[in-house]
Amino acid sequence: MYQVYPRSFADGNGDGTGDIAGIRSRIPYLASLGIDAIWINPWYRSPLADGGYDVADYREIEARYGTIDGAAALISEANEAGIKVIVDVVPNHTSREHPWFVEALAAEPGSAARNRYHFQPGKGADGAEPPTDWTSVFGGPSWSRLPDGDWYLHLFDSSQPDLNWENPEVRAEFLSILEFWLERGVDGFRVDVAHGLVKDMTWPDMESETDELLTANSQENHPFWDRDGIHPIVREWRALVDRYEDRMMVAEAWVPSLERLALYLRPDEYHQSFSFDFVGTDWDPSEFRRIITESTTKTATIGSTTTWVLNNHDVVRHPTRYGLPNGTNWRAWLLDGPHDILDAELGARRALAANLMLLALPGSAYLYQGDELGLPEAWDLPIEVLDDPVWERSNHTRKGRDGCRVPIPWTSDGPSLGFGDGEPWLPQPPEWAEISVEAQEADPNSPLAMHRKALAIRAEELVVSETLTWVDSAPEVIAFNRGTIECWMNMGTTAVDLPADAAIVVASDSGQATSGASLKPNTAVWLRR
Ligand code: BGC
Repeated sequence: MYQVYPRSFADGNGDGTGDIAGIRSRIPYLASLGIDAIWINPWYRSPLADGGYDVADYREIEARYGTIDGAAALISEANEAGIKVIVDVVPNHTSREHPWFVEALAAEPGSAARNRYHFQPGKGADGAEPPTDWTSVFGGPSWSRLPDGDWYLHLFDSSQPDLNWENPEVRAEFLSILEFWLERGVDGFRVDVAHGLVKDMTWPDMESETDELLTANSQENHPFWDRDGIHPIVREWRALVDRYEDRMMVAEAWVPSLERLALYLRPDEYHQSFSFDFVGTDWDPSEFRRIITESTTKTATIGSTTTWVLNNHDVVRHPTRYGLPNGTNWRAWLLDGPHDILDAELGARRALAANLMLLALPGSAYLYQGDELGLPEAWDLPIEVLDDPVWERSNHTRKGRDGCRVPIPWTSDGPSLGFGDGEPWLPQPPEWAEISVEAQEADPNSPLAMHRKALAIRAEELVVSETLTWVDSAPEVIAFNRGTIECWMNMGTTAVDLPADAAIVVASDSGQATSGASLKPNTAVWLRR
């Protein structure tokens, strides 16, 4: 699965913002990668206060991205090219510009219109204190007050009011939205904040800060994350999705354990739920081995597989994460540095090795646009261009997620490196000219070439079985057999011997392919024995 962030993928009309026309023009490229499907981040009508995760109309396309006809054309053209299309659904909250919220603001406290959201009176004298002490994931309080005294809940930005999933009207509306898109031919859904829909409506205080953006929390009976009441809702969606042939749902559920994750993967719930374990893990072979072992064995016991993720539009890109010393808080580092501790070249090598390893694992793998180019984080974006609400809501203590959302460099020159004819909505680092698609197409040893080769072999040979067998190796080496292919990744600092009778079929380091018997540090290979 290849994740397309529409705002930053390709700009078809030259306004500096990516769009559906841009994606359509790049379908041949997507097909050339050898992926099975794309996941498109929200493309619905939206003020884009949170990059489109603030939806004003779930059945319309944002005008900056295109039209509903363009969306339909994209789906059918992608399908014709052999690519399935899944879209994002955002059920936890709407935009404040959604007609329901506009109606709720105009209505009285206690009205039916307000009951689609979580409106509550405040605490303290005159209700001047928020109903609970919960903090927003983006920073600051998770309640905002209206002039009439009522407070409304928003776990994210104040422009993203949380819906009340105890309200049957909300449930019915989302079934209808899913049906709308199923009828338009989407192959499935990525469900946003799938672990957040149900709140403890006794409104208890937490007496602790909400965890930093999108990290799994470990609190039992958490008042708003991963509550058991979520699952009956998912079963309703699944029953609908199952009425259509060959459609799927993947959950974005940040949960504290594999046991909790497994609940989302029950046969009548999601087909997939992201495993975010690698995202929060340093370059550490014992941790990598533990994650792979636990995840593959536990998902197998429930008849499911793991859905691997190294990157997405919410996290610092991994060539940058892996270029920082282990233990660095990369979210804080973006703003606070020190920036001279970054070894970009080391990070780039490790990230490529990790991608090759990821593509060898059983289960499903998600790549984020630019991963195939080895794009690093644009970590030095000037403050003036930051768009992520995290920057303001955190009182300028967190830079936010713009650095992983910078438009893709398609060509090695031109005003926006081939992204489009206009000034891109976020500036691209000039050195990205050297790692553009155009530059890499011309280089048979490029990261792009490695991904194409690996994806082709994966499709032919690896998806036929979900079995992974560990191969004896030094502790700093991740080595496992997948049938015809063996993957070896050296996470240590010295070269290690590879088996004598093996031919290298893909390598993350172009120097490696010919060197034969030893595996360089920070390198991965696929062997055929
Ligand atoms: C999405 C984020 C978004 C948040 C609120 C997430 O988990 O991936 O990009 O800001 O949900 O919708």
